[in-house]
Amino acid sequence: MKFFIDTADLDEIRDLAATGLIDGATTNPSLVAKAGGKFEDIIAEICAILPGPVSAEVAATDFETMVAEGRKLAKIAPNVTVKVPLTPDGLKACKTLTDDGTMVNVTLCFSAGQAILAAKAGATFVSPFIGRLDDIGLRGMDLIEDICTIYRAQPAFKTEVLVASVRSVGHVIDAAKAGAPVATLPPVVLRALYSHPLTDKGLAAFLSDWEKTGQSILGDDVPKPAAAE
Ligand code: E4P
Repeated sequence: MKFFIDTADLDEIRDLAATGLIDGATTNPSLVAKAGGKFEDIIAEICAILPGPVSAEVAATDFETMVAEGRKLAKIAPNVTVKVPLTPDGLKACKTLTDDGTMVNVTLCFSAGQAILAAKAGATFVSPFIGRLDDIGLRGMDLIEDICTIYRAQPAFKTEVLVASVRSVGHVIDAAKAGAPVATLPPVVLRALYSHPLTDKGLAAFLSDWEKTGQSILGDDVPKPAAAE
C-alpha cells in the first residue's frame, strides 16, 4: 500500500519525507490556500522533495480550460499528477490528459458509479472522499470496499483507488484491509499511526533496565549529528 501525504505545507512534507514512508503527495485548492504561496512554486518544490506522484488540481470547470491548465501543470515536473473533478467535462479532460501521457487523479468521487466512469476515462487514480461521507452519516469505507471489489472484478480497469479525506488511523487500517492500493494521509494521521501507549511504556522500561547494565553498544563510536545545511 502506498502512502501519499495530503498537504501543501512544505515544512511538513520535508519532515515526513524523511521518514522514508511517503510515496507521493496530494494537494487541493483549499490546502494550497491554507499553505499560502504561489501554486506552481509549491508544486515544483513538492515534486523536488518527493519523486512519486504529486497531485495538482485544475481550477477551471470547462473541458478546454481544464486541459490547458492540466497541460501547464504537467510541465512543472514529470511526477505531476493533474487532478480533475468528477464531472462530465472533468472526465473528458481526464481522457485527453491521459492520452497525452500525463497522470490524472479524478477527485471528489462519492459513488461506485462515479468510480466506474473514472476508470473508463483512463484515470491513473480515483479519489473517493471517505471522511466527507462519514460526515453526512454514511460509512465512507463501504464505498472503498465497493470500488476495490469492482476494480478487482474488472481487470481492464487500470485505475488505482486513492483513499482520500482520511481522518483516522482506523480509516487507514480499514482501507488496507479492503485492498486499497493508495491512501493519502493528513500529517496528523500519519504521525498517529506510529503511536501506541504500550510502545512508549515498553521503551521507557527497556531504557531504564539497559541503563542498569552500565553498558554502551557503540562505546566511543557514537555518530556525530549531521551538520545542519
Ligand atoms: C485529497 O486529495 C483530498 O482533496 C483531501 O483528502 C480531502 O480531505 P478533506 O475532506 O479532509 O478536506
